[in-house]
Amino acid sequence: MKNFKELCQMRRSVRGYTGQPVSDDDVQYIMECVRLAPSAVNRQPWRFLRLKPEQLPLAQQCYKNPWFQTAPECFIVCCDHSESWHRPQDGKDHGDVDIAICAEHFCLAAAERGLATCWVCNFDAALCRRLFHLPDALEPVVFLPLGHEAADHQPRPFSRKDVEDLWL
Ligand SMILES: Cc1cc2nc3c(=O)[nH]c(=O)nc-3n(C[C@H](O)[C@H](O)[C@H](O)COP(=O)(O)O)c2cc1C
Repeated sequence: MKNFKELCQMRRSVRGYTGQPVSDDDVQYIMECVRLAPSAVNRQPWRFLRLKPEQLPLAQQCYKNPWFQTAPECFIVCCDHSESWHRPQDGKDHGDVDIAICAEHFCLAAAERGLATCWVCNFDAALCRRLFHLPDALEPVVFLPLGHEAADHQPRPFSRKDVEDLWL
């Protein structure tokens, strides 16, 4: 069992996958971790699309990077803005915050299982809405490819601010 810091260090963005499928048992475990995520006023406004193999080309139209085509699985994490909490004082919608937390649970749970992921937000959201027939209230926030890291994958150099540089 890794400690939390080791798990955080293990999780890197992976941009190259083998064709090996992901087991339903792993997906079930990851989704159990997702459902434990906290959310504002416990609204849990997340909705997940697990793409069928024949739907992967639709996601690839929305995010055209060649490495993305190597992922055997892709999940589209959507926010239901009719469920997310809007702060009464100023109306700020906290749906993005909630989605970020549950998506990172997904990535860390995948890393624990020896699987690889990458956050992908640089996709064509309007096209995604059209191709997947998403109702207006559902915003596609992040694509999460999932799979086994390719043997020749080179992670980008690791770079983070030092703790001392985080304080205001
Ligand atoms: C909100 C968010 C959006 C991101 N969108 C993309 C993306 O569209 N394409 C991509 O290749 N990486 C994307 N990334 C991955 C980041 O580039 C990566 O997390 C960062 O460079 C740190 O590297 P690491 O994840 O390997 O630690 C995104 C990450 C986050 C948190």
